[in-house]
Amino acid sequence: MSIDLSVALGPLVLKNPVLVASGTFGYGLEYAELMDVSALGAVIVKTITPRPRPGNPAPRIWETSGGMLNSIGLANVGVDAFIAEKLPQVRQLGTAIIVNIAGATVEEYWEVVEKLDPHSGFDAYEINVSCPNVKDEGMAFGASCPVTAQIVSGIRKRTNRPIIPKLTPNVTSVAEVARACADAGADALSLINTLVGMAVDVRTRKPRIATVTGGYSGPPIKPIALAKLHEVRKAVSLPLIGIGGISTADDALEFIITGASAVEVGTANYVQPDSAIQIISGLRKYCETHGLSRMQDLVGTLDTGAR
Ligand SMILES: Cc1cc2nc3c(=O)[nH]c(=O)nc-3n(C[C@H](O)[C@H](O)[C@H](O)COP(=O)(O)O)c2cc1C
Repeated sequence: MSIDLSVALGPLVLKNPVLVASGTFGYGLEYAELMDVSALGAVIVKTITPRPRPGNPAPRIWETSGGMLNSIGLANVGVDAFIAEKLPQVRQLGTAIIVNIAGATVEEYWEVVEKLDPHSGFDAYEINVSCPNVKDEGMAFGASCPVTAQIVSGIRKRTNRPIIPKLTPNVTSVAEVARACADAGADALSLINTLVGMAVDVRTRKPRIATVTGGYSGPPIKPIALAKLHEVRKAVSLPLIGIGGISTADDALEFIITGASAVEVGTANYVQPDSAIQIISGLRKYCETHGLSRMQDLVGTLDTGAR
């Protein structure tokens, strides 16, 4: 049986629904020696900012029971070096490329897009609104509907490429932020970014992470991510990309059935670098077993009726 795994995220059509999450797969180039990166639905590169960032002081990673904390602080080469040194190689990876971007001010987001947009070799923007807003005492941009809308509508004016805001779960109502993004011209949404977490070394009484709190990711966040996806699915009609604790095909299927048109694999890349490739073959097997010729037909088929 021939199975069509392709998915449409608004105007962005991908060969399959399994992507690798920003910050967990470098610029894609680092993994090309280990696996067939071209088999992925898309590579989402590390967040790019207007200027290079060395990132936060160490320690910036801590493994918890079941998941991990990180406070990398958006270490990246900056948009100019990305265009000059990374993009020429990234565009050879043989699959769709989504560039994840961020800034310390609303204008910095627009600046990254203005610099990147004239260049070929990538297909869409993922907008990381989970980073702290320097003008607003460190509150994440994505915690404010008007600020998120301002970022997205300003990007909409500067590009015809698909725009995918990446939502933070660290808000009271993720559905309201999703609605603000939809109204501002987003083409799809991805969720969730990491949850705020913390761990303490009881011998030294020091936090395990130099910045005290960090982003919590990995298998334990999956139930939270699924609930947020379910909430957003009810609020907007945009295509959704599910993220959070996905390490197996069954994990990915939970998100797809709940309403994700595609998924991103993050922390699992550190455990098993080719997790995403294994998930793709698991999805194909599921379709075969369940007589599905098109992966897309499974999206949002969650049965919440009587048991
Ligand atoms: C070490 C590390 C670095 C990350 N860096 C970024 C980043 O630069 N930009 C971003 O949007 N998300 C970043 N994330 C968040 C992931 O893309 C993803 O949203 C999150 O980890 C939840 O998925 P997971 O449980 O599958 O890891 C990072 C996550 C980790 C673990």
